[in-house]
Amino acid sequence: MPGTFRVGLLGHGTVGSAFGTLLAERADAIEPIIGARPELSGVLTRSRGSFEEILEGSDLIVELMGGLEPAREYVLRAMRAGKHVVSANKQLLSHHGEELWAAAREHDVQLRFEGAVAGVVPVIRVLQESLAGAHIERVHGIVNGTTNYILSEMAASGITYEEALGQAQALGYAEADPTDDVTGKDAAAKMAILARLAFSTPVHLDQVRYEGIEQITADDMAYARDLGLGLKLIGTAERVGDGLNVRVHPAFLYAEHPLASVHGPFNAVTVESDAITEITLSGPGAGGPQTASAVLGDVISAMIPPATTPETTAELQIVEDVESAFYLHLEVADRPGVLAQVAEILGMQGASVKSVVQQGLGENARLVMVLHPLLESRLYGALRLIGQLEFMRSPPRAIRVIDEEFT
Ligand SMILES: NC(=O)c1ccc[n+]([C@@H]2O[C@H](COP(=O)([O-])OP(=O)(O)OC[C@H]3O[C@@H](n4cnc5c(N)ncnc54)[C@H](OP(=O)(O)O)[C@@H]3O)[C@@H](O)[C@H]2O)c1
Repeated sequence: MPGTFRVGLLGHGTVGSAFGTLLAERADAIEPIIGARPELSGVLTRSRGSFEEILEGSDLIVELMGGLEPAREYVLRAMRAGKHVVSANKQLLSHHGEELWAAAREHDVQLRFEGAVAGVVPVIRVLQESLAGAHIERVHGIVNGTTNYILSEMAASGITYEEALGQAQALGYAEADPTDDVTGKDAAAKMAILARLAFSTPVHLDQVRYEGIEQITADDMAYARDLGLGLKLIGTAERVGDGLNVRVHPAFLYAEHPLASVHGPFNAVTVESDAITEITLSGPGAGGPQTASAVLGDVISAMIPPATTPETTAELQIVEDVESAFYLHLEVADRPGVLAQVAEILGMQGASVKSVVQQGLGENARLVMVLHPLLESRLYGALRLIGQLEFMRSPPRAIRVIDEEFT
């Protein structure tokens, strides 16, 4: 029908149903922007709708099914049929991004995915458009709201990881099965996408090393407070020499770091480059209405060209071993010479100690220290040796500390 812009919707769950509602609510406002009235041409779920009919009757396809298949097949078929596609599917893009972007270029259509990373925070747009000419050195992100909520609650109330996870589930910030969130896998998928855009280098989810927050204890939080640090699950993508390292792990931040003040289920991404210094974007990280808003923004943008589809322009090698500062937590027998032996092993590995807190626990003692940056392989070498010392009362624990460079 002339004057109508037909949007085919694949998936009608948390985000899909919120998107359908928002599209209807905003149709009057969108019509003058794109010169046609948007309307849903069909909805596909497991029990309703036909993909072929929706594809045939739509000008643009919105994929909000999640998962790899059949989402990948449907997105490819839509683009081959000359339709723009909007998706919020981070797993799909972090596994099959190169294939999908190549298809978008080949068929001269847009594949937009703002909702896949950091919800409504427009970080994809900023990387692809505003910072398209910047030589980015590093991207740091809090890109998982569930874990940020859990860590914020542990820090604020002194509760355990299990208690904070229970609260997150009761409030709807964590799913019944929170595995992808708490293991860091969800954040790793998002960092693969951000790294791909920031460094124009293909990054597959398998190339992102990730650690989660399940091992964090209330003690870690208490010591962090004493040392003036806050704990976050941080995704990092950064140049290392001529290479690129992408990783996700818990990390301590000094209070001045722009991500240190991001609390609760919020997301934030900091982009660093010599020329721009530092930009931080933050806001609600997930949720049906928030993600639907990002998806709708993409639908409108797809109708207002131009927008770029990422093309590989660099082939940075993926680097595995990088330098980090570390927090060390050691439970030891309380007797003379212990600190000296630990310090000797650290010194052999080239580690230097920035600060130490020692606490007596009857016959035992707790040593908590912050180390200046050293190669992670050297730290783990030191931990292996320290772990074998006869006076150790439990395995040594290490968490990275992010040192602020731009303040
Ligand atoms: N939830 C969030 O806050 C959020 C935030 C950012 C990004 N995302 C992303 O947005 C996407 C959707 O997430 P969601 O939370 O809305 O998921 P959801 O609530 O599980 O909904 C998924 C929808 O897709 C449909 N679907 C799944 N597999 C299908 C298949 N093989 N054939 C046809 N329909 C199928 C489901 O149909 P049935 O109704 O029949 O089961 C359901 O309607 C995911 O890629 C997710 O990663 C979600």
